[in-house]
Amino acid sequence: MRSFAGNRVLRDTGARVPVFNAPIGYFARSALAGAVSAAGGMGLLETATTGLAETNAEAERMRERTDAPFGVQLFLRVLAQQNRLDEVLDWALDGRSRFIVSAVGAPADIVARVHDAGAKLYHQTGSLSDALRAVDAGVDGLIVEGAEAGGLRSTRSMHLFSFLQQVRSQVDVPLVAGGGIVDGHGMAGAFALGAEAVMMGTRFITAAESPVHHNVKQAIADATETINLEPVKKGIMMRFVRNDFAESVARGDIDPQGQPYAGPVFEMFETGDLGLAMVGAGESAALLHDVRTVAEIIDDTVAGFWTEIERLAALLAPS
Ligand SMILES: Cc1cc2nc3c(=O)[nH]c(=O)nc-3n(C[C@H](O)[C@H](O)[C@H](O)COP(=O)(O)O)c2cc1C
Repeated sequence: MRSFAGNRVLRDTGARVPVFNAPIGYFARSALAGAVSAAGGMGLLETATTGLAETNAEAERMRERTDAPFGVQLFLRVLAQQNRLDEVLDWALDGRSRFIVSAVGAPADIVARVHDAGAKLYHQTGSLSDALRAVDAGVDGLIVEGAEAGGLRSTRSMHLFSFLQQVRSQVDVPLVAGGGIVDGHGMAGAFALGAEAVMMGTRFITAAESPVHHNVKQAIADATETINLEPVKKGIMMRFVRNDFAESVARGDIDPQGQPYAGPVFEMFETGDLGLAMVGAGESAALLHDVRTVAEIIDDTVAGFWTEIERLAALLAPS
């Protein structure tokens, strides 16, 4: 029988299938995260790139679309710098969500408040020491991101294959794996290494419901290679579609001037002009080749997962 019975991430989130969208600034809003929740996955709403009024409007649009649960991500350092961490946390816990994700910062600062409100707290992390600190602080689970992921990352980051096993061997909280996963093969691999759910970023950036211009989605779908650069500062890397713009930055012909995408990225997102900035994407860009709806992505991922599990289980059969 195919069932995720006993899955602790489903228990904590209330989702039907253990697939999350990554809480990426600009992307993880109602259109995309709402579609993920509506398809049975765990939609995560980011709160770092919109003010509270707009975040609230996004949450209301999510609710209009589906009764299914969704989670709220708090980018702790950014919200603290903007002096609005308390405001956003209070808002989230005031009946909006029972599932909070913390990132970049100390979840110890908020864990008691999340638990007092009857909600769960998962911490999103790319380092073992940070993961262990978060578990010591009492978080309910971890989102473990490997170095193949898109987004800003330390050059010291480990790749998911080894990182997940390291975390798994040291803690016993539920783990969500992110980085390089686009389908059921990746999901089955992550589960074999100890995850109970997967989080996909690049795959959902290219989804039909993703708010970005089609040219950006197609550039990722067409990509066969990504390139790792340090456009913000040394030691902080980010992965991009390997195109002419990114090659120019790599050669030093274009100075990124400390901007992660080396240009006006939101203008590129709106107009689809790929000459304006680099296209951020994880290594997984090379694994996906089309633009599909969120429901198709989730259904195919879960179906592919079970196919893969059955293929492996068949190894047990007497020859
Ligand atoms: C272009 C891009 C931008 C990202 N920006 C953010 C961000 O703003 N906040 C965040 O928490 N994670 C961000 N991430 C990382 C994702 O949360 C996640 O770890 C990653 O997408 C997983 O790897 P995958 O892209 O291979 O699925 C970003 C990822 C990508 C591809």
